[in-house]
Amino acid sequence: MSEKFIIEGGKKLEGEIEINGAKNAALKIFAASLLTDQEWQIENVPQVKDVFNEIELLRDLGVQIEKIDERIYKVKAGDIKNTKLREDLAKKIRASIILAGPILARKGEVEFIYPGGCVIGRRPIDIFLDGFKTLGAEVTETNGRFRLTTSGLRGNNFVFPRVSVTGTEALILTAVLAKGKTILKNTAQEPEIKALVDFLNKCGAKIKGTGTSTIEIEGVNKLGKGTFKLIPDRIEAGTFAILAAATGSHIKINNCNPQHLESLWLHFKKTGVNFELGENFVQVKPTPKLKTVNVTTHEYPGFVTDLQPPFTVLMTQAEGQSLIHETLFESRLLYTDILNQMGGNIIMCDPHRVIVNGPTRLYGKTITSPDIRAGIALVIAALVAQGTTTIENIEQIDRGYEKIEERLQKIGASIKRVK
Ligand code: EPZ
Repeated sequence: MSEKFIIEGGKKLEGEIEINGAKNAALKIFAASLLTDQEWQIENVPQVKDVFNEIELLRDLGVQIEKIDERIYKVKAGDIKNTKLREDLAKKIRASIILAGPILARKGEVEFIYPGGCVIGRRPIDIFLDGFKTLGAEVTETNGRFRLTTSGLRGNNFVFPRVSVTGTEALILTAVLAKGKTILKNTAQEPEIKALVDFLNKCGAKIKGTGTSTIEIEGVNKLGKGTFKLIPDRIEAGTFAILAAATGSHIKINNCNPQHLESLWLHFKKTGVNFELGENFVQVKPTPKLKTVNVTTHEYPGFVTDLQPPFTVLMTQAEGQSLIHETLFESRLLYTDILNQMGGNIIMCDPHRVIVNGPTRLYGKTITSPDIRAGIALVIAALVAQGTTTIENIEQIDRGYEKIEERLQKIGASIKRVK
């Protein structure tokens, strides 16, 4: 049965909120476990739908996954019994494509359908397919189903035509067990990639250059066992910081790594947000008057696209005009129409750019969450708004934020989940 959030807005919130492990790191480390028949322990795993779906997908391939504590999993891909990704699950998560390389490396074949995930643009997979081919895979496509085979993956050079996070991770994972050296150029530099690579190296991989735009991988025969603790979710941390600023609240965000959000802090300074950074916390205090700032999303360390929707809500509360330029995904501004229905004054210039005129008073409405990040932005808008907002399709929000209503209730938000 579908669920909804009912939110009473217009209140100031106060208190502390803890950050969970990064969803987008969890999805990749679980995928990487396919590279070895040795046991891995994965800790600080966020309890969110995307991760649960991937765990189910892996179990269907024969991977043994056991939850041994609140957020701790033991994972062992002793044998991969199945080389076809289960369609219903692969359709739900974009990261399913990252399983292809490790399965190919271990079994010489893999079959999958076009991966699913958030509807935020076309989201092609051409880069993945070109990369797999460069490393020695044969690719055939029949009716949206892809079959990859190889008689042995071989290291090679590949230049990404554009920077891709999952693309970079997918080719790293494909090259780890390939014969010889792979050099990847124009790679993504997200902290989740660095954490993944550091751990793979601990398990015996030979990867250099992570956190830069050139990554070198010397293929190895096998990987050993290990324990990996997921890094804090920088998108959660940024989201709660923006929520505090937009609602004029005093919130301390714990267990995060503020260094992973430098671009957000720069925008906060320009906006006049009253905030303080510690080594592993961020504290946001009420700001009397917010100023506008323009935002252009960019690969890391630029302004992260996943925080663009929450930041746009913040701009509806700031004085002046701001241009939001979403450079990565062409359908990631469509939710601004919903903000307008709530009282926002946002003009769409083209699929990649909107102008936000502020400040505007927002009002409660019945609305639908389009995807994870627009969904959480609507939660923020509802907390800012006067009156009651009902948000439908909250399964989208649950994909990325664990028990969001309970965590927001603890800092004084009036939000409840109803069936
Ligand atoms: C990752 O998506 C994240 N997902 C996204 O978070 C995030 O928004 C995005 O990176 C950018 O930071 C996961 O990590 C699971 P890309 P990803 O490949 O890897 C184009 C969330 O809310 N492209 O870096 O899929 C693509 O269309 C999600 O948690 C091609 O053209 O993004 C985009 O314009 C949503 N061909 C650009 O590259 C390809 O083959 C960057 O996308 C692949 C990508």
